[in-house]
Amino acid sequence: MNKAEFSGKPDKIPSHSIEDIPEAIRATPYARTRSRRKRIFLIGGLSGLGVIALIATLWYINAAPRRNVASVPATPKSAQPANPSATKVDTLLGHFAYSEAPQKELKPIFPNSSIKLRKPAAQKFQAMVVAARAKGVVLVPISGFRSTASQQQLFFDVKAERGQVATKRATVSAPPGYSEHHTGYAIDIGDAAVPATNLSPKFEQTKAFKWLNANAARFSFEMSFPKNNPQGVTYEPWHWRYVGDRHSLETFYKAKKIKPSNTPK
Ligand code: DAL
Ligand code: ZN
Repeated sequence: MNKAEFSGKPDKIPSHSIEDIPEAIRATPYARTRSRRKRIFLIGGLSGLGVIALIATLWYINAAPRRNVASVPATPKSAQPANPSATKVDTLLGHFAYSEAPQKELKPIFPNSSIKLRKPAAQKFQAMVVAARAKGVVLVPISGFRSTASQQQLFFDVKAERGQVATKRATVSAPPGYSEHHTGYAIDIGDAAVPATNLSPKFEQTKAFKWLNANAARFSFEMSFPKNNPQGVTYEPWHWRYVGDRHSLETFYKAKKIKPSNTPK
């Protein structure tokens, strides 16, 4: 054992001693190239696997939110509001906002009458008049569809004539844009036998009111402003609205958070 071996340092094999190494394990240029190639393949293969693993991880992370959404049942289209703004209730002085019924949807309640309602409401009102008459009660239509322009006059002009503040006027009249009469579903009804009770709380003492109270629901009419109604509108026993189809029902009830009840509101 010489000094170089003892120190553990790599030593140059003297050219003369190459013959001492068995031929099978001698490092030939060919063997060196092969081992370099192996190393390159190994490093390349490992790098390739690493890239694939990275791409797979990124894809998995990216797809996670979609997987979670897919696991929650989607809201059926029919349960979604047709108009998201419909969930926001627009009110003014206790009255709800209503849009004007299109003219083509309106129909005179009797031939040649200037009072109009939406077609289904007009038909049911006629049927109701006929049924009441059969019991000796004469229902008189006073006011049906009203435009926002005519409600403007009713609210502001009458308010000025009477010297009322807006909050007081709103207890008996809706501001323009907020009257049920705009919808074409609301109608004020009197009793032909006692015209003095027209548009008065005394209407509740008439035969017409008693008949309406007992029978109007059969024709899909209901009183809009009973005593102590939550809107704070004065009791209007003469004002009735039609709620006999999906459109009219949604017009008055949708988004107002009114629950089913056995008693009139
Ligand atoms: N009288 C009712 C509230 C209206 O003006 O619509
Ligand atoms: Zn009315």
